[in-house]
Amino acid sequence: MKIIKTIPELQQEIARYSNQEIGFVPTMGALHDGHLTLMRLAQEQNDLVIVSIFVNPTQFSNKKDYVNYPRELEGDAEKCRTVGVTIIFAPSVEEIYGHAGGITFDAGPAAEILCGISRPGHFNGVLQIVSKLFMLIKPQRAYFGQKDAQQVALIEMLVRDYFFPIRIIAVPIVRESDGLASSSRNVFLTASQRLQAAVIFQQLQIVKKAVETKQPLASVFAQAIAAINATDGKVEYFELRSYPDLTREIADATKKVLAVAVQFPTVRLIDNIIF
Ligand code: PAJ
Repeated sequence: MKIIKTIPELQQEIARYSNQEIGFVPTMGALHDGHLTLMRLAQEQNDLVIVSIFVNPTQFSNKKDYVNYPRELEGDAEKCRTVGVTIIFAPSVEEIYGHAGGITFDAGPAAEILCGISRPGHFNGVLQIVSKLFMLIKPQRAYFGQKDAQQVALIEMLVRDYFFPIRIIAVPIVRESDGLASSSRNVFLTASQRLQAAVIFQQLQIVKKAVETKQPLASVFAQAIAAINATDGKVEYFELRSYPDLTREIADATKKVLAVAVQFPTVRLIDNIIF
C-alpha cells in the first residue's frame, strides 16, 4: 500500500495500472467500520482500491468544525491496509486548492433542503472536491455511504448531469450495536449523550412503520420529534421525501427516504432509512 501526497506522484502511480479497474472511496479520514465497509466492497468489485483522505475545507460552513475535525492519518493507514487498499491519496489543501479564486460549484435546488438549510454551501464544496478527485483518479466505480443520503443523491445527479463515466455505488448504513449510525463525529458525544443517541434510529424505525401502515403522520412525527427532543439533542429536521430526487411528492415514488438531523451540544448527527 502506498500513501501518496502529491498529484504528480498519484498520476505516475495510477499509470502503472492501465487497463485495470479502479474502485475509489473518497473519505475525510478518522476511519471507522462504515468507511471500511465501502472499501471491502470496492475491493471485491475492482482490481485495485484507491482511498482519498482529505478534510475538504470548502464543504465546511463552520470554521471550528473544520479545525476540530479528527485527523489521524497513521491509524487510518493501518485500517486501510487491513482491507487491501492499494493507494491512499492524502493531499494537502495547497495541492488541491493551490490557485486563488477559481471555479466553484452550484449544487442546485436539491442542495438547499434538509442538511443544506443549516449548512449553506456545504454541497457545493462536496461536488467540487468529488469532481476534482474523479478527474484525478478516473475510477470505474466510486463508493458512497447511504448514511449521507442527500450527498449520494447529489453525487448521482453530478455524474448524470456532467457525464462522468463512473458508476456510483451506494452502500447501506453501518450501525453500532445499539443502532446508532457509525460516524467519525460520534467521538464528540459525552458518555450519556452517546447512550441517548440510540433514540434516533429507534424513532426512524417507528416512523417508517407508520408510513408503511399508512397511519396519520402528523402525530407520529410529533411524537418522534418529542422523544428525541427529550434527550440533550434537538431535532433540526425530520422529513419524508422521495429518493433519490428528494422531492416531497412521495405518493408515486418507488423509493422514499426518511431523514433526520439532530443537534447535540457539541455535534450534529444525521441518520436516515431508505425504503
Ligand atoms: P466522510 O464523512 O469521511 O465519509 C466518507 C464516506 O463514508 C461517505 O460516502 C459516507 O457516506 C460514508 N459513511 C460514513 N459513515 C457511514 C456509515 N455509518 N455507513 C455507511 N457509510 C458511511 O462524506 C464525506 O466524508 C465527504 O463529504 C466526501 C464525500 C469524502 C467529500 O469530501
